[in-house]
Amino acid sequence: MKVLVIGGGAREHALCRSLSLDPDVTALYCAPGNAGIGEVAELYPVDALDGEAVARLATELGAGLVVVGPEAPLVAGVADAVRAVGIPCFGPSREAAELEGSKAFAKDVMAAAGVPTGRSYVCTTPEEIDEALDAFGAPYVVKDDGLAAGKGVVVTSDLDKAREHALACGGRVVIEEFLDGPEVSLFAITDGETVVPLTPAQDFKRALDGDEGPNTGGMGAYSPLPWADPKLVDDVMATVLQPTVDELHRRGTPFAGLLYAGLAITSRGVRVIEFNARFGDPETQVVLARLKTPLAGLLLHAAQGTLDLEPPLRWRDDAAVTVVVASHNYPDTPRTGDPIEGLDEVAAQDAPHAYVLHAGTKRDGDAVVSAGGRVLSVTATGQDLAQARERAYRAVARIRLDGSQHRTDIAREAAGE
Ligand code: AMP
Ligand code: GLY
Repeated sequence: MKVLVIGGGAREHALCRSLSLDPDVTALYCAPGNAGIGEVAELYPVDALDGEAVARLATELGAGLVVVGPEAPLVAGVADAVRAVGIPCFGPSREAAELEGSKAFAKDVMAAAGVPTGRSYVCTTPEEIDEALDAFGAPYVVKDDGLAAGKGVVVTSDLDKAREHALACGGRVVIEEFLDGPEVSLFAITDGETVVPLTPAQDFKRALDGDEGPNTGGMGAYSPLPWADPKLVDDVMATVLQPTVDELHRRGTPFAGLLYAGLAITSRGVRVIEFNARFGDPETQVVLARLKTPLAGLLLHAAQGTLDLEPPLRWRDDAAVTVVVASHNYPDTPRTGDPIEGLDEVAAQDAPHAYVLHAGTKRDGDAVVSAGGRVLSVTATGQDLAQARERAYRAVARIRLDGSQHRTDIAREAAGE
């Protein structure tokens, strides 16, 4: 099978890495990709948001499966354009991707499906904003209704900051009850009816150690979660994932692709913080590091509506940790164009247990240079989280990128350190 992956971050590098290890994959292409993906896939400089162009490329390449990584192309209808030319596509339709594209839509689906989530108000005027902030009290949770690359949410006890962010969103704003408790990301593959959960992971959203600093796209992740209730996946399947997929099916806009449930484990039970319509980044890096089942067949079953034929997923016993190396000034105004050194040393000394997945990187002659906020996702496996963590940080220490930053506490607590 020839597979075309759309996107160019570390999530897509993780997808491409797994697909390249699948014996059923005879050719692997990526658009637009990055420097690291270019080592396992042939790159095409096509605009990921242009559905017609992606569909044309997939046709020219004779792709048997297109996998869309990021949310923006999904919300723009790229999966629909690919399916329209008769090629199976892993990723929901534009309409179903609204589950991520509009927080208000997600809340509506959850209400209809009886899915547990924080109480919320959708506000459009300054008066409504003030009323909602007043009704919930501090800490305030203010969310831009639309896509904001993980940066549209402000959680603060400062009323002025909460109000300022709400007004700055400019359109619809969701103001929500604060949900206390550890967060879990649980992904499920679905063909619109059958739902197959993956293994839970935890992401570190704040920029700095100790969960300080601004929200980011994610600074690291680990899996499994030794502290989680063993019944968590079954519970979330029954109360969140299956009811949500069933509700979208009932509405005539089935969701086929990856349903990402961002959960808070509160003292009153599990609550959905958000849905995403695609694999999470950086959680995918650790989830796929642990998945033994070949990826292409699984994604193809979801794309073709035959997920009920997929045998039970197989997982490694290993733990996995990923540490994001970000550029100077991420997430505000990341500096790009800095050379990255040490990649060969990791490949020579840390493989196969540790490896570097590229996010914002590109080739500049013989050099690899930074080209985005999150630059690398250094991933490692081990017999437990402590070993995976040690291997990941040993590899991080070999990377040289001027002004770069990373958290030093990814999976520390979960590893019992
Ligand atoms: P989101 O973009 O919805 O994932 O939000 C980004 C981050 O903001 C989440 O991962 C949480 O850490 C935090 N957050 C979002 N909603 C809430 C909430 N209702 N209560 C507490 N924290 C929240
Ligand atoms: N890691 C958070 C996300 O992918 O949205």
